[in-house]
Amino acid sequence: MPVKHPPDYEITIPECKGDILRIRDLRFAYPDGRVALRGVSLNVCEGEKVAVVGPNGAGKSTLMLHLNGILRGHGSISIAGMSITRENLPIIRAMVGLVFHNPDDQLFSPTVFDDVAFGPLHMGLPEAEVYTRVDEALAAVQMDDFGKRLSHHLSAGQKKRIAIATVLAMRPQILVLDEPSSGLDPRARRSLINLLRELPITMLISTHDLAMVEELFPRMVIMDEGFVVADGPTAKLLEDGVLLEAHGLEKP
Ligand SMILES: Nc1ncnc2c1ncn2[C@@H]1O[C@H](COP(=O)(O)OP(=O)(O)OP(=O)(O)O)[C@@H](O)[C@H]1O
Ligand SMILES: [Mg+2]
Repeated sequence: MPVKHPPDYEITIPECKGDILRIRDLRFAYPDGRVALRGVSLNVCEGEKVAVVGPNGAGKSTLMLHLNGILRGHGSISIAGMSITRENLPIIRAMVGLVFHNPDDQLFSPTVFDDVAFGPLHMGLPEAEVYTRVDEALAAVQMDDFGKRLSHHLSAGQKKRIAIATVLAMRPQILVLDEPSSGLDPRARRSLINLLRELPITMLISTHDLAMVEELFPRMVIMDEGFVVADGPTAKLLEDGVLLEAHGLEKP
């Protein structure tokens, strides 16, 4: 398949003092040689809610896995002015709350409490503070009474909420969510949307749920074949039928 060359649309680099996330010319190939990112640049300002969309294989998840140093590509990434290096990885991981596509990749402890407490404990916080963080995080996702439940016995929607709580307990500066609404029934999706709307935190998500993007994310970034091909106001990009069709997207 021929590789397209970006951008095929106006790219708006937002003006903000001290970007919370700044990515420049990020390139990455998997060990088998598959090129997944071909020079991605992106700024996210403090408090912004940004959605990354694009077809399967566009590079969205690969991009997200770079934001807390799970994958390391070429180019530069900085979080609140701090670049990602081996030395500052623990700080970066406390600043960037990454929620994986599959909650089973995030939940590995026997109980919900243990899963949510894992990050704060790992940060070396005192026990009382760990309890406070867990209570706060479970309340934020409306799962207050689930501490003693077994993580692997929860429904898909409940697991998603707990996965979000595990990163909220770290009080991250930016929340990065890979396909948060996939696999949820309409009621669980609706309550997730309400939760994301109310979280007063900078957010970068990847999703195929353009209706959720239209409702919740004022800015949209379209990726295709490892490139950012468009970046701008969601309302404007969703009006461009030619652009959407060129990248396998459909107006909700
Ligand atoms: N572990 C891996 N090893 C080799 N190639 C991979 C690996 N993971 C992903 N890829 C490839 O990297 C490219 C980008 O994949 P990625 O998972 O980032 O896409 P995506 O935009 O998240 O897609 P989706 O919408 O399906 O989640 C694809 O070509 C994919 O096949
Ligand atoms: Mg993905």
